[in-house]
Amino acid sequence: MASWADDAVIYQVYVRSFADSDGDGTGDLEGVRSRLDYLVDLGVDAIWVTPFFPSPMVDGGYDVTDYRDVDPQLGTLAGVGALLRDAHARGLRVIVDVVPNHTSDQHPWFRQALSAPPGSAARDRYVFRAGGTEPPNNWLSVFGGPAWTRLPDGDWYLHLFAPEQPDLNWENPEVRAEFVDILRFWLDLGVDGIRVDVAHGLVKPPGLPDAPYPGERGNRPYFDQEGVHAIYREWRRVLDAYQPPRIMVAEARLRDIERTARYVRPGELDQAFNFEFLWAPWSASRIRAVVERSLAAMAAVGRLPTWVIGNHDEVRVASRLAAGAPAATAAGLAPTAAGCAPHAAGACAMATEWSTGDDLAAGAKAAATGLRRARAMALLSLALPGSAYIYQGDELGLPQVTDLPDAARQDPVWRRSGGRAPGRDGCRVPMPWAGQEPPYGFGPPGSAPPWLPQPPLWGHLSVAAQHGDPGSVLSLYRAALRLRRETKALHGPQLTWLNAPEQVLAFTREAGFACVLNTGSTAVRLEQLDLPGPLTLASSPVEQEGVLPPDTAAWFVGGTAAQ
Ligand code: GLC
Repeated sequence: MASWADDAVIYQVYVRSFADSDGDGTGDLEGVRSRLDYLVDLGVDAIWVTPFFPSPMVDGGYDVTDYRDVDPQLGTLAGVGALLRDAHARGLRVIVDVVPNHTSDQHPWFRQALSAPPGSAARDRYVFRAGGTEPPNNWLSVFGGPAWTRLPDGDWYLHLFAPEQPDLNWENPEVRAEFVDILRFWLDLGVDGIRVDVAHGLVKPPGLPDAPYPGERGNRPYFDQEGVHAIYREWRRVLDAYQPPRIMVAEARLRDIERTARYVRPGELDQAFNFEFLWAPWSASRIRAVVERSLAAMAAVGRLPTWVIGNHDEVRVASRLAAGAPAATAAGLAPTAAGCAPHAAGACAMATEWSTGDDLAAGAKAAATGLRRARAMALLSLALPGSAYIYQGDELGLPQVTDLPDAARQDPVWRRSGGRAPGRDGCRVPMPWAGQEPPYGFGPPGSAPPWLPQPPLWGHLSVAAQHGDPGSVLSLYRAALRLRRETKALHGPQLTWLNAPEQVLAFTREAGFACVLNTGSTAVRLEQLDLPGPLTLASSPVEQEGVLPPDTAAWFVGGTAAQ
């Protein structure tokens, strides 16, 4: 293994929604620190903490005004030190988020740029272009609407995301030097890794050409330019100067894992989030195809894949995989394609990207199926060779909250689409820790209401409610993570497919371990599979020996697996 992260289980902490220590309704770093024992008990190896830097919070902290400090609402720099110390004392590693594609429009550099004239050095840190009344090209923002905003003096500036997130100019040596310095700042403080936000976006194509089909997701000329890789080769050299070794993980939302793999070639980053896996539909053959492609693409560059089933930008896995729906209407979660006005094409592209493809109107039955499938996906993702990511709350089986009041929604996607795209708030609702009513122990007694309202019926989903319940999602995650740690067979690179019926995916790892997933709507008999041991863990109750129920995954562990 090249680094500690190669087979690590990494838990994503979305700070604002994890735990609120001071009762202001927003989660904070002290809240994370106070819950480290929960994470140790869960059994993860590391945490990735989403941005906590000073920010006007237009995009939940992905709009940074100072890359070397902590937002007062979320904590202090000394608090980061305390978090690192306490995490390390418990054997947990810590990854922080760096946002190099854009700053906040309130960042001192952008304020200087605004008060400096067109053509000035201050403007050259960003992507400014002279223009007439039309934007310099037809690019659309990922969040909807044009990717350009015009200043009163006639200059336009580029923002691939919200107008409050101006893109930096990575051709400018000062920008490059600044981020090397920012990396060193956090590495010197003792962080174990860096997540690189929008890793595929930093370098824009020369001449900023028009996109051939601007509304279409695959047609964004501003992503995945060859030039980004030189930046990561430089960053690798920075990281390699540290002991113990530090890691970098790329957020590059690319459709093809083969393109993603180029970010983890020797001399570049260590990991890249596997979006193809996250977007795979509920079908054994489709999932198997993605797993095969992921393993092959990563093997070609000497790496193992990551297995990601959720994050703060995606519909919760328990809702995404909900059943019974005509694909793509995504009621309650995203607009229908027909509902997209032409000027909102960017937002629609993103809404599609972040929609479920499932119709939740089928109600409770769909929700129950979604949860069964999410449990099965958890077992699958923890059984595959490589590293697995867990998004906070998925270990509780939290569903997407689809009925947030409009006034509560904060995601710029919601505003910029004029309410046509629901945005990502529904997967960011604060964690329920205990009790029968909001805020479910999210903050201390008497706290301000959480920054996003929690549903009234989440009491049974809380950590406290699930803690002692052997049938809970939390107990499943704990058992799986314990078994994963104890089972040596799960830590090598090997995977061998077993012949299985069409609705079934089955594989062995090194001697003594097998995982079987049934995505079909009927139970399957397992006798024709050559399984190495008894059923040890299943995502749903298995009532009849040798028969795997629908929407269920199981682990089979033989005597040799632990050696
Ligand atoms: C990444 C983040 C997302 C953010 C965007 C812009 O995709 O995960 O939350 O909105 O970058 O920074």
